[in-house]
Amino acid sequence: MKLSSANINVMVKACRKASKAIIRDFGEIENLQVSLKGPGDFVTNCDKKVEKILIEELQKARPNYSILSEEIGKIKNDESFTWIIDPIDGTSNFLHGIPHFAISVGLEHNNEIICGIIYDPIKDEMFTGEKGNGSYLNNQRMRVSSRSKLKDCIVFTGGPKKESPDREIALKEYYNFSSKVLTPIRKLGSASLDMAYVAAGRCDGFWQRNLNYWDIAAGIILVKEAGGFVTDFKGENEYIKNKTILVTNSKIGQEMIEILSN
Ligand code: IPD
Ligand code: CA
Ligand code: CA
Repeated sequence: MKLSSANINVMVKACRKASKAIIRDFGEIENLQVSLKGPGDFVTNCDKKVEKILIEELQKARPNYSILSEEIGKIKNDESFTWIIDPIDGTSNFLHGIPHFAISVGLEHNNEIICGIIYDPIKDEMFTGEKGNGSYLNNQRMRVSSRSKLKDCIVFTGGPKKESPDREIALKEYYNFSSKVLTPIRKLGSASLDMAYVAAGRCDGFWQRNLNYWDIAAGIILVKEAGGFVTDFKGENEYIKNKTILVTNSKIGQEMIEILSN
């Protein structure tokens, strides 16, 4: 049975509306790629447009909730409920005409994410999750994979960004990881979809340093409700404070922690 609580319905409606703007603008990217000016400003405007639609829709349905969104920052209201929004996660892909990016919206209640939606508008894949009610990909219940040996898995990572203060550490982590296992490591360029894919069992684990709350908020509940684990690199619960996130199908968690912490 599909997940359809009141909050999920509000999020789905907002994402569907905002996705129309993304799809329209993505169609323009190809032309802009070859223009002298390039698609840079155009993409920034698209980000802002999508954010505006999302916020308008969410506020219409839940006027009292606070908002934390990547482009405009914080809108303070009833602080016990906060929408955490990334209007386009995977901007570099979008900018280069690569069809792999998503809208990501999480709902935080008393410092805990209770609902999440990650919507890939190009593949029309809607990943939703709600505390106590499971995670779904369109109408199908999602479960994390059951692979228990890292050598049989595929894992994802992302970054480091060129301006990241931890760039050197992140590069060393990547080198360390890939030199210790033969597991294929992929960088697909959208942290929210990386997490959604772990929840869907397509990928078995994901690690990254220095992500922002809006990159991961929706993914946290999707993964947990699909039976996966979300921790920091040490296997502890401090992933937001420590800015290191490890997401696994639960079975390869310990193996990944051992590699990342050495
Ligand atoms: C980025 C993507 C990417 C990750 C970066 C994020 P953006 O978000 O999630 O996969 O590696 O660290 O900043 O900028 O496309 O919203
Ligand atoms: Ca992002
Ligand atoms: Ca973004």
